[in-house]
Amino acid sequence: MSTPKNWPSELESEDVVFSLIDDELKRQVTGLQLIASENFTSPAVMRATGSVLTNKYSEGYPGKRYYGGNAIVDDIESIAIERIKKLFGADHANVQPHSGASANMAVYLGLLNHGDTVLGLSLDHGGHLTHGSPVNASGIFYNFVSYKVSPGDERIDMEEVRALALQHRPKLIVAGTTSYTRRLEPEPFKKIADEVGALLMFDIAHLAGLVAGGAHPNPVPYADVVTFTTHKTLRGPRGGCILCKAEHAQKIDKAIFPGSQGGPLEHAIAAKAVAFGEALHPTFRVYAEQIVKNASALAQALAQQGFRLVSGGTDVHMMVVDLTPFDAELTGKEAQLVLDSAGITLNKNTIPNDPRSPFVTSGVRIGTPSVTTQGMKEPEMVLIAELIATALRNRTDSAALAKVRSDVAELCAKFPVY
Ligand SMILES: Cc1ncc(COP(=O)(O)O)c(C=O)c1O
Repeated sequence: MSTPKNWPSELESEDVVFSLIDDELKRQVTGLQLIASENFTSPAVMRATGSVLTNKYSEGYPGKRYYGGNAIVDDIESIAIERIKKLFGADHANVQPHSGASANMAVYLGLLNHGDTVLGLSLDHGGHLTHGSPVNASGIFYNFVSYKVSPGDERIDMEEVRALALQHRPKLIVAGTTSYTRRLEPEPFKKIADEVGALLMFDIAHLAGLVAGGAHPNPVPYADVVTFTTHKTLRGPRGGCILCKAEHAQKIDKAIFPGSQGGPLEHAIAAKAVAFGEALHPTFRVYAEQIVKNASALAQALAQQGFRLVSGGTDVHMMVVDLTPFDAELTGKEAQLVLDSAGITLNKNTIPNDPRSPFVTSGVRIGTPSVTTQGMKEPEMVLIAELIATALRNRTDSAALAKVRSDVAELCAKFPVY
């Protein structure tokens, strides 16, 4: 069949971009992916992401679009909305945020005025950039006050949150974490928000899949607004989502469009709908539970190898590992590089009150969502801890690192992803 279009389609097989994508696929499936914020999406999610919906402009919302030709897109976006509302028991959902950061900024835009006071977890104690970092728009446009984890047990100190709330009378309290290894219980936050008359936002970017799968308490009944990313534990396409009480629905929708975004990514929204459908399936509960079991097993095995777990362990899908007792000279930066060369991908991470800079750090963050999707269980977590410790103990020995690399590839070959 001839191709009347003027796409240079014969170039597709030669375009270096496709051979690089093949290289990336190989990297993902032959190494251990332990970045806590990543996952492997299903072929169905990728099919929707790569669909013709990328061609469509759909500014507005189902039934109220600025351009024609949106009847089918309306059906797809409505399915995404209904599925996520059902999954979390929410009054209202906006599935258009391009990312977690866009979702958070839209909430601030919709519910706050410039300069309003907000309480959020400090970035270097496990919060996110969008929770008031001075280099982020959140910290530039709003008056964020930070709470921290307590020096003793390295857990969020709800007494401190309450004291800061009483002192600063924030308009909004943000509960949400990027590298915090304990449950975020909604009731204590709700009690404080009610006491000081603040709105309550939960950012469950990391925890959304665990909440959906019943492995973490659901903040939706307690919070005014819940934001999350769809690409972490929830195992959907890259993107964000906002759930809120009915009374905030109009403000939130207006803050996304026209407030801060233009045309929605309907291919991503279709993929969100597919992922939400997968998360509604009973097998997702088994998956979410196994993520947590695996994290707990990996944390215990790492402790046996001489590492210290920040807060003493984990209740969720990730752990923050203090490298100092294992080797006082070893930084997070070096550990990340060494492990990368051995096929183990994770990220450096500050530990609470880290004497080193965020670019160097004394710790690493490790998560189990991806390896759990692959089907690995507790015995593999013990192996992974051994591989990590062996690589770091022998970090200047290239033959030892090559041996770890091949052991990693052998393990991954037993748990093919795609
Ligand atoms: C708690 C939290 N909020 C927001 C985000 C931002 O998500 P995105 O990278 O999609 O903008 C992240 C990402 O890591 C996160 O951990």
